[in-house]
Amino acid sequence: MRLSPAAEAIPRSGIRAMAALAQGREGLLHLEYGEPGFFAPEAVRRAAARAVMDERIVYTPTDGPADLKQEIARKLLRVNRVAVDPERVFVAHGGVGALYASLGSILGPGDRILLPDPGWPNVLGQVYTLGAEPVFYPLAAETGFRPDPESWPVDERTRAVLINNPSNPTGALFDRAMLERIAAVARKHDLWVVSDEVYDQIYFGEPPVSMLEVYPEGTLAAFSFSKTYAMTGWRLGYAVLQPGMRDFTTKIVESCYSSSSMVAQRAALAALTEVGEGEIGDMVASYKATRDRALEILDASGRRRYVPEGAFYLMMPVPRGVSCESFARLLLERKDLVVVPGSTFGARASQEVRVSLAAGRDVVAAGIARILELTEELEQGGARLGL
Ligand SMILES: Cc1ncc(COP(=O)(O)O)c(C=O)c1O
Repeated sequence: MRLSPAAEAIPRSGIRAMAALAQGREGLLHLEYGEPGFFAPEAVRRAAARAVMDERIVYTPTDGPADLKQEIARKLLRVNRVAVDPERVFVAHGGVGALYASLGSILGPGDRILLPDPGWPNVLGQVYTLGAEPVFYPLAAETGFRPDPESWPVDERTRAVLINNPSNPTGALFDRAMLERIAAVARKHDLWVVSDEVYDQIYFGEPPVSMLEVYPEGTLAAFSFSKTYAMTGWRLGYAVLQPGMRDFTTKIVESCYSSSSMVAQRAALAALTEVGEGEIGDMVASYKATRDRALEILDASGRRRYVPEGAFYLMMPVPRGVSCESFARLLLERKDLVVVPGSTFGARASQEVRVSLAAGRDVVAAGIARILELTEELEQGGARLGL
């Protein structure tokens, strides 16, 4: 008996592969997961506890309860500066569920979608599951991991482009001018833009502009509670769809997981109504302090290439002549450090490793120092070997 070829095509997550290698080893520094090092805010935890004790936890409307959709629309106006009818908000099982709701509504077998390389790999699995075909566009370190939309290979089968701003795994942030270039290409070729904005509130300079503002007629956007509120395990996010799409998208989501968790929905409502900007600001300030410390260390060694402006990741190059997988393994074996090989995020990052800056300043500083140490050891060894 045969297993699904679509599932077969999905690469195994390199993040989990590294975690598996590290399992059972004590005293490691873990910089592999994009996992905030905080508890969810107290108001969130209390709201969930109240819901569990006082309410019957039942199925909800597939697209989420009206009060939550209303609050999300308010947040979109306040934070993302876009006015959206609550009817366009589709509450989902995490940001990943919001992406699936969006991609599932627009892609079918044989359709092509442009995906960033490097990019967050889970989207690739969704594209394969839908029978669609990924076409990758490069994000190069030399350009600060920003794209060149005018050079994208669009053909008659291309239906959509996915952007992720701020980006996992690079931390790059696209400014308004870049989004306008992307929108111009999308308009010219009638493409959807699926805009993954799950890191919308984690930025270290100017706030990111939402693609919903720049390309309102063709954007489907995905957001999440996971990163902003340190709620990764609660599994709640939302998509912003185009007007009139809700019933259509309901069919996709209904057949997949019926609705998101009511406990998480109640917690998310509290996140939006009871958690102050200050509490989020404190978490972001801590990520920024970590990012700044990382840049200081890179500056001191003359190895800074670019400045991550959002999310909580940094890409670092591996020494010439060494694969990213070998480098990550050596870091684990010789330096007790876990990072993710860049190839997990795409072929163009095969000379990179991803460092998560979410772990806290001192852990990240120690981790980066170890990466630089091993880099120097290998470069010196490589020079002797004539690499
Ligand atoms: C770029 C990106 N998009 C989407 C997600 C999924 O978010 P969630 O955990 O809310 O499903 C993640 C999670 O790491 C991510 O990094």
